[in-house]
Amino acid sequence: MNIPSNIITLIIGITLTLVSLWYGQNHGLMPVAASSEAELIDDIFNVMMTIGTGLFLLVQGILIYCVIRFRRKKGDNTDGPPIEGNVPLEILWTAIPTVIVFMLSIYSFEIYNSMGGLDPHAAHDVGLHAHHSAHKEGKNLLALNLDSDKLAYGLGISPESGQEDPLIVNVNAMQYAWIFTYPDTGVVSGEIHVPLGKTVQLNMAAADVIHAFWLPEFRIKQDVIPGRTTELVFTPNKTGQYPVICAELCGAYHGGMKTMLYVQSPEEYDQWVQANTIALKETVDPQIVATATPEGEFLAPHVQTLGLALENTQLQRLHIHH
Ligand code: CUA
Repeated sequence: MNIPSNIITLIIGITLTLVSLWYGQNHGLMPVAASSEAELIDDIFNVMMTIGTGLFLLVQGILIYCVIRFRRKKGDNTDGPPIEGNVPLEILWTAIPTVIVFMLSIYSFEIYNSMGGLDPHAAHDVGLHAHHSAHKEGKNLLALNLDSDKLAYGLGISPESGQEDPLIVNVNAMQYAWIFTYPDTGVVSGEIHVPLGKTVQLNMAAADVIHAFWLPEFRIKQDVIPGRTTELVFTPNKTGQYPVICAELCGAYHGGMKTMLYVQSPEEYDQWVQANTIALKETVDPQIVATATPEGEFLAPHVQTLGLALENTQLQRLHIHH
């Protein structure tokens, strides 16, 4: 072979880069991306996948090459040359990952920020306000703590970002169900319906223990914590039905704490709201209804806790998988 080795290295390098770039976009590891936030997450995931693939091929390639190229020759029982490290090489292979990790951390910080993860709107605004008034009025720490119950933490796009008002949905998590209330219309449901393209803000509270609201197709997850409101803001951009999963071990039936999120066209969504608003007007005594069905029996103790007038059909709609 008389091809110079630096040309071979170059060809290998180009091939490695192309393969990594291709695989980084075509790994097929993620479910459908159904929100604008999901695309941001997938972008950084693909970048990491590209780098990871390149490093994997490089390391494994050199390993396999060396195993074959430098294997012991027949009858050779001598020791190998005594090599004691290589400072420039060690500096190089420390510097490259450092630079990669730095770039990835800046990039992920950027995405987290653009998703509102560092957004002080809910947490800090109210927090600072509470802090200020507590100081001004000479209140003690207890008062400050009580005020801080109003704080919200979570991923949310800033209301100052010039967006139209989001659709507010209150989420109640309990062992082992999700209950969604729409403050605008009074609709109560065991599954969540949202119109396509509309920014949705979830205000989440837990009735008992810590749960986590996870929407894999939206690439978002947020803890739901007793005594504290957390929030999630997202904009669905694909119609369909997507699983809502509890992602925090919350008890024996944690695995069954699932429901569905339906992204519907605005017309279909309006129909759903209308159907549920009519049902709401025919509300009967929640206590009687509550014990009429197995699901109702299970939920009955919570009906009063939540202060909800759960109507029969709505109770039946609550999906509780045991
Ligand atoms: Cu709720 Cu796990």
